[in-house]
Amino acid sequence: MLSTQEPVLRRFWYPVLPIADLSNSPRSFTLLGQPLVLWITDNGAPAALADRCCHRSAKLSLGIVQQNCIRCPYHGWAFDSAGICTDVPQLDPETAIPKTYRVPSYLCEERYGYVWVCLDDDPILPIPEIPEANVSEHRLIPQFYEVWNCSGLRLMENSFDNAHLSFVHAASFGMEDQPKPASSELIPQELGLKVYSTIPVVNPPAQQQNLNIPDSLTVRHIESTWYPPFIRTLKITYPNGLLHLIFTAATPIDDRTSQIVQFCIRNDTEADVSAESIVAFDRQVVEEDKVVLESTDYDTPLDLTVEQHMSSDQPGIVMRRQLAALIKSYGAGQPKGQVLAEI
Ligand code: FES
Ligand code: CO
Repeated sequence: MLSTQEPVLRRFWYPVLPIADLSNSPRSFTLLGQPLVLWITDNGAPAALADRCCHRSAKLSLGIVQQNCIRCPYHGWAFDSAGICTDVPQLDPETAIPKTYRVPSYLCEERYGYVWVCLDDDPILPIPEIPEANVSEHRLIPQFYEVWNCSGLRLMENSFDNAHLSFVHAASFGMEDQPKPASSELIPQELGLKVYSTIPVVNPPAQQQNLNIPDSLTVRHIESTWYPPFIRTLKITYPNGLLHLIFTAATPIDDRTSQIVQFCIRNDTEADVSAESIVAFDRQVVEEDKVVLESTDYDTPLDLTVEQHMSSDQPGIVMRRQLAALIKSYGAGQPKGQVLAEI
């Protein structure tokens, strides 16, 4: 099983919540079973500490933000973004605060409008670079932020699985009468995967206006990228030049649940198509996937002999192999260079 307690999973960046959620008060989030308190400092940068006061273990996320610090709700100790205690109201001002008064801190950054956290000081990969997000003419549309009862790996595999479209998405864009999946070109990366394919799809009335394609059939040119362990981008280009890039993360909360973070990037404008209409269509598609994914075992075996496979499962097989190699290598606490050479 791919347990969220595998130490190597702590060495990746995950988006945990929209930065806008921190505008008024601190928030809590559980990442890989680790409760966090998150808040925003005066310079606009987010901060993340363990959500447990080192005095009597109260949740810091129930406290308040003051002068860049989080102040515990129980006895008022304050901690800065490095987890160092900066104020103990019960101490005389001239008394030094013991250095042991501190709380674990974690790497924390803002990107694409979300707060990202890595639980280890030495991330294996950087936060994914998405060049399309930096084009000023493009718009970024936040889509979904919700908890699913499924494993991140199952969701990643689903994203690269061309064989499910005719079944799961028969009511939206899948071609029911063409169950044979489109072929694709797989390019495994040192860590990660790229897949290119061209997929004929149904273009229902609800989508024709969204795409500015007034035909009942169209085609998607796809470049999918997997960023281990649980992030993918699906860059769809339509024949009319329309870009619809979907970013999806399945941030691991614990061994039963994933926080779905999804936004899309488009090269058209709100005057062309409303964000609301785009979100509505993608909502239908995502709901179709959710029903099936939440019915799968959370346990996703990395041992390839446990489940049966067909040729269109190749992307998922690459993912399982890479994750198994990562766990094997990092479980032994080897340095980074050695591990990447093995994979
Ligand atoms: Fe936090 Fe006492 S429990 S200050
Ligand atoms: Co799907």
